[in-house]
Amino acid sequence: MKVLLIGGGGREHSLAWALSASPLLTELFCAPGNAGIADVARCIDLDVGDHAAVVTFCGQEGIGLVVVGPEAPLVAGLADDVRAAGIKCFGPSADAAQLEGSKAFTKELCTEASIPTAAYGSFANAESANAYAQEQPLPIVVKADGLAAGKGVVIAETMVEAKAAIDACFEGAFGDAGSEVVIEEFMIGEEASFFALVDGENVLGLATAQDHKRVGDGDTGPNTGGMGAYSPAPVMTDALKAQVMDTIILPTVRTMAKRGTPFAGVLYAGLIITDEGPKLIEYNTRFGDPECQVLMMRMKSDLLPALLAACDGMLGSFDLRWHDDVALTVVMAADGYPDAPKKGTTIGGLDAAGAIEGVEIFHAGTKEINGTLIANGGRVLNVTARGTSVAEAQTRAYEAVGLIEWPEGFCRRDIGWRAIERENKQ
Ligand code: AMP
Ligand code: GLY
Repeated sequence: MKVLLIGGGGREHSLAWALSASPLLTELFCAPGNAGIADVARCIDLDVGDHAAVVTFCGQEGIGLVVVGPEAPLVAGLADDVRAAGIKCFGPSADAAQLEGSKAFTKELCTEASIPTAAYGSFANAESANAYAQEQPLPIVVKADGLAAGKGVVIAETMVEAKAAIDACFEGAFGDAGSEVVIEEFMIGEEASFFALVDGENVLGLATAQDHKRVGDGDTGPNTGGMGAYSPAPVMTDALKAQVMDTIILPTVRTMAKRGTPFAGVLYAGLIITDEGPKLIEYNTRFGDPECQVLMMRMKSDLLPALLAACDGMLGSFDLRWHDDVALTVVMAADGYPDAPKKGTTIGGLDAAGAIEGVEIFHAGTKEINGTLIANGGRVLNVTARGTSVAEAQTRAYEAVGLIEWPEGFCRRDIGWRAIERENKQ
C-alpha cells in the first residue's frame, strides 16, 4: 500500500520511521517532510491547505491511506475531503476535531457526559469574561478558545493578570482563536498524557507519556510545543488508566457518536491527577509532538495495520504489543526558540550520535543543502533513546546529545527528572 503522510515535524519523522518498517508499505510520501524523513519517504511539495490538490495527488499516485500528523489540517477538514474522494484517511473529521479546535466545545461535552474537568465559564466578550473572573478564587486559568499553538493559556496569579489575558484575547492576540474565551478553575496535581486509537466506536488504549512544556530546566520560562518527553508516565498506574478510560475517554467517544459526529483517529487526553482523581485538562485530536516519538520507539507491533483498523472500524478485534522498555526524547531547539529561533545554522555529528545503542534521532525543523544539514525551525532534533529505566534512557539520550555538533542549538538538561526522582525513591 502507498501512504501519504502529512506534516514535517519530529512527530511525522517518528511516524514515517514506524510506517517504513511495515511489510504492508510499498511507498511512503510525505508533505512537506524534512531532511530526516527524506531517508525513509519521498518528500513532496504539496499545498496541504489545497484539499483538491491533495486528492488529485492521491489519485495520480494510487495512495491507499493518508495519515494526517498535525491538528490544523484536521480542523480545516482535510480528512473529510480525502474520505469524500473514496480514499482512506487516518484522522478525525472537522466536526470531531473540534475536541481540539475549540476548548468551549470540549467543556460543553464534559458537562453533557459528566466528565471530570475544571469548573469553567465560556464568554464571547471581555465584559462578561472579566465580570466572571472577578468572582473566582485565584489563580485562575484564561484560555483562548481556538488553536493557538500551545500559547493561548495564561495562569493568572492576580486579577490584573487575568484581566490583561482576557483583554489580550478579545483584542486579537490570537486572531480568531481568541474570539471566545474559556475561564477555568486552577487544578493542582501531576500532569500526564494518555493516548488512545479510536475508530468511531471502539477504543484501543495506546500508552501514557509526560511532556516538558516549559523551555527551561526546572520547568521555568515560557511554554513551548514541548522540550522532551518520556513514556510510560509512572504516575499513571493501571488503576488510574482504567479510571481515565471509564470516566473520560469512553464517555467522550460515546457522546461524539451519539451526536452523529463520531471520533476516529488518535485521542490525546491531557490529564491532571488531582486529589479527587484524574481530570481532563484538554483534548488533542492527533499524536503529541514530541510524545509520538517516544510512543513509536516503544511500539513493537506494525503501526500501519493499526491505523487501517482505526479507519475501518475494526479496533474492537485489534491489539498492539509494546516493548517493556522506557523511551525518552530530548528536543534540541535553535537558539532563540520559542520566540525567535535562529535559522540556517549547520548541524553535524548525527551519525555518531545515532550509533549509540538504543538511540534514534528524529528530525523536526531540518533541511539538507548540498549534503549539509541545516536548522530550519524552532524545534530541530529529537534525540530519542530506549532503556530499561528512565535513568538509563536519559543517560543514553544525553550521551547522544553530547556528540551533536551544533553550537547554535540548545536543549533542556533535565528531561525525565520527575520520573527519575520516583525511580530513585523505589
Ligand atoms: P493546555 O494548552 O490547555 O494544555 O494548557 C497548557 C498548560 O496549562 C497545561 O499543560 C497545564 O500545565 C496548564 N493548565 C491548563 N489548564 C489548567 C487548569 N485548569 N488548571 C491547572 N493548570 C492548567
Ligand atoms: N507536546 C504537546 C502537544 O503535542 O500538544
